Amino acid sequence: MDYLGAHLAFKSRWRKTDEELCRHSMSFVLHKAIRSDFFESYLYLLERLPLVKLYALTSEVIEGEIQFYFRARNFYRDVPATEGAMMGDFSDLSNIDIESSRKFLRKFVGGPGKAATNFALDCGSGIGRVSKHVLLPVFDNIELVDMMEPFLEQAQNYLEQEGERVETLYCYSLQEFTPAVGKYDVIWIQWVSGHLTDKDLLEFLLRCRNGLKENGVIILKDNVVKQGCSLDPVDSCVIRGIHILRNIIERSGMTILAEERQTGFPELCVPIWMIAIQ
Ligand SMILES: C[S@@+](CC[C@H](N)C(=O)[O-])C[C@H]1O[C@@H](n2cnc3c(N)ncnc32)[C@H](O)[C@@H]1O
Repeated sequence: MDYLGAHLAFKSRWRKTDEELCRHSMSFVLHKAIRSDFFESYLYLLERLPLVKLYALTSEVIEGEIQFYFRARNFYRDVPATEGAMMGDFSDLSNIDIESSRKFLRKFVGGPGKAATNFALDCGSGIGRVSKHVLLPVFDNIELVDMMEPFLEQAQNYLEQEGERVETLYCYSLQEFTPAVGKYDVIWIQWVSGHLTDKDLLEFLLRCRNGLKENGVIILKDNVVKQGCSLDPVDSCVIRGIHILRNIIERSGMTILAEERQTGFPELCVPIWMIAIQ
């Protein structure tokens, strides 16, 4: 009977929860934990995975850390510090990705009312593939932030001479990182937003907002599923639908300046979107 009460309370608070999910839910506490981490994605995630399994992959706290982050760090420990590995072994597509990113970036920098070209921040930079090919050709100085020290160490070789224009390499998880206030013209977030919970992505976007200079822009580029949200348990990453991303961005109080789908990738790849936010 206690379950019934909890489920009814659960149902009335979260309108979209259907009969089916309620019937299979056994723990209000597990639901609450997952929903607090994934407030936009959680019902979609529950559609694909049973509650207990989803909890074990995401919000379960072991030694003070949720499994979602613990598992991602474990995954990246085995990833070599190479350009191919940064592309998830689709290294052939790096040039296409870079070309589109450069074109998209040009719309928002260098001109009246647009972002200046003094300083950019590359978030989830890995070895600095985006920094090298997209940001350094445009900005006077850049900074990189990534949670994996080996990637940042490799960045110093990989960026070659141009690496001299890197002011700081920050070895931080984005969920714990605060960009310096009012410092950046562009904050680039590529293929890393899915490694943050909805809650941490929202809070990170809010901190990035404070990190922007006048006319500054955040560019988020990531895989996007056609519907809902899916969890890849291998690298511990959620792939959100575009409407989920839009909702999170909207909650940050910023607006979407433009959205563009990456072209030129094979059909079998998950669609990739670039979103400019201000
Ligand atoms: C697929 S790679 C993409 C690297 C780079 N953005 C690019 O496009 O080449 C994902 C990167 O995100 C980093 N990463 C994953 N989760 C992170 C987190 N929570 N905080 C900071 N970096 C993270 C990984 O270490 C890795 O370097």
